[in-house]
Amino acid sequence: MGHMLEKPPSPRTQVTPPAIALEISGEPSVSSASRDLLKAIIFVLLIYLITWEFDIAEKLAVFTARYESMQLDELPIALLMAALAGIWFSHRRMLEIKTEAKLRTEAESSLARLLNENRALAAHARQVQEQERKRMAQDIHDDMGQFLTAIRLDARSLSKLEDPMVASHAKRIGLHAEHVQKAIRNLLHRLRPVALDEYGLIDATRHLVQEWKKQHPGISCHCILDDKCTNLSDNINLTAYRVVQEALTNISRHAEATAVSVRINFRNNDKSALEVTVEDNGKGFYTPRTNQQRFGLATMRERVTAIGGSFDLQSATSAGVRISAILPLSSPQEKTHP
Ligand SMILES: Nc1ncnc2c1ncn2[C@@H]1O[C@H](COP(=O)(O)OP(=O)(O)O)[C@@H](O)[C@H]1O
Ligand SMILES: [Mg+2]
Repeated sequence: MGHMLEKPPSPRTQVTPPAIALEISGEPSVSSASRDLLKAIIFVLLIYLITWEFDIAEKLAVFTARYESMQLDELPIALLMAALAGIWFSHRRMLEIKTEAKLRTEAESSLARLLNENRALAAHARQVQEQERKRMAQDIHDDMGQFLTAIRLDARSLSKLEDPMVASHAKRIGLHAEHVQKAIRNLLHRLRPVALDEYGLIDATRHLVQEWKKQHPGISCHCILDDKCTNLSDNINLTAYRVVQEALTNISRHAEATAVSVRINFRNNDKSALEVTVEDNGKGFYTPRTNQQRFGLATMRERVTAIGGSFDLQSATSAGVRISAILPLSSPQEKTHP
């Protein structure tokens, strides 16, 4: 399976978070500079000894004296000046390279800082969103639930009346109220998986998958949920649950799959990390369609990385999608982000 960020050696796609830190290389170290200086001195000494041995300067002077009219005897000084100009030129370039490297380091560190700020902001926004969803879910549950139940009870009593007209209307009211109640229950479940708080991740996910199966009877769904995965923190529970939820939603919307598998278990059977995998055999994609309205995959990755986990998406055209999230169970971030 190839990486999406690499060029297309294979059609398989892997989406990985972008690397931020670039390494700055190419600045000569002190030891290599002194080594070069030593080499230059040895080279000059060697040339000096050779010219001494063969009297090259004298021979050159005699030779160029013959061409005094063409000013060839000024050549050594001109060459010396060219060497000095070369030294000055390289010194200037070296200073320029150093300044560029410094600017690059500064730009990279401010980029990394901005990215961190962005992540913290996104994590905060998600936390606020989850709290707001929870509050809305409670309000809807408390305000509407009891009234709908009352309407159904009243409708049931009315349906027992002798008047057939009243009875049939009452029956229909009862059915409508039941329908609304079901719709609200689904909405509440999407807003805040209450079962997560009550029953924990595994049972809540089992319920989510069962509901999803009912809506997609044509898709075979294989579900392996390890019942040992209990007593996890709220962050881990919610992140794992939302990953499965978004992955299943994407499968309904885009995949055209005939088989799906959902798995949650401890990684390598030790309790240091939780592994969540959702796989389908649908049409897959090579590069995800991106525009400003598509946040599902990005949010999944953000959620996972915000708690110190790693997110991996592999896909290929006509070869389905495999999403895998590894959530560390003891990282410090786990306790601070939603
Ligand atoms: N399981 C999948 N099968 C096929 N394509 C998918 C799947 N999941 C995601 N995609 C592709 O990735 C894109 C981005 O997904 P996502 O970020 O969740 O946004 P959205 O679901 O709102 O389109 C989708 O539009 C779709 O093209
Ligand atoms: Mg989506």
